[in-house]
Amino acid sequence: MSIKIAKTNNPVIDIIKDRWSARSFSSKDISQKDLETILEAGSWAFSANNAQPWNFVYAFRNDASFEKLFNCLMPGNQPWVKNAGVLLAVIANKKLDNGAENKAAKHDVGAANATLMLQALTMGIYGHVMGGFDTAKAIEVLNINTEAQEPIVFIALGYLDAPEKLEEPFKTRELTARTRKSLSEISKHFV
Ligand SMILES: Cc1cc2nc3c(=O)[nH]c(=O)nc-3n(C[C@H](O)[C@H](O)[C@H](O)COP(=O)(O)O)c2cc1C
Repeated sequence: MSIKIAKTNNPVIDIIKDRWSARSFSSKDISQKDLETILEAGSWAFSANNAQPWNFVYAFRNDASFEKLFNCLMPGNQPWVKNAGVLLAVIANKKLDNGAENKAAKHDVGAANATLMLQALTMGIYGHVMGGFDTAKAIEVLNINTEAQEPIVFIALGYLDAPEKLEEPFKTRELTARTRKSLSEISKHFV
């Protein structure tokens, strides 16, 4: 959707300009093979000590377990996530192999998420990261040992559908251009 494509001041590559957090997902199913390609792409992200502190727990829309993941989401996310082809819970390993805290765990999970999103987009599959979930519920549903792991985000994946299929306020959000802070706000030449 052209309104969502980033208008950049510099020659940023298309795949980055074209990625956006979609909400209108079509009924086309994501195949197991395509999901594996997306997750494998995520696994090639960089990580501190190559610890790869990410874990992806997934359910396809037609799985009975989809509802269990779906029920972890906040009400503001559920109206549009219900049409996602796949729902992922992304969990971080908090510790390194030697038992020390992995201070980079959340950073590295984010890097894997960004990487898998870009892979997905090359396959026509859009993603939407969500921090809006009930952490206690996710810990229970996913049987997470909180000494070792922490749920970080959920991600909805799906093929794109028309924004008009969404109810408000999601339709308007789907039709609103994306914005970013200027480079001068987020960077400076340190001299
Ligand atoms: C950690 C994180 C948590 C987010 N949580 C939510 C959420 O709960 N619900 C939602 O609709 N979008 C959520 N988003 C999506 C952001 O709102 C979105 O990435 C941002 O507005 C920029 O839009 P863009 O991804 O289309 O460029 C989240 C994104 C991140 C990275």
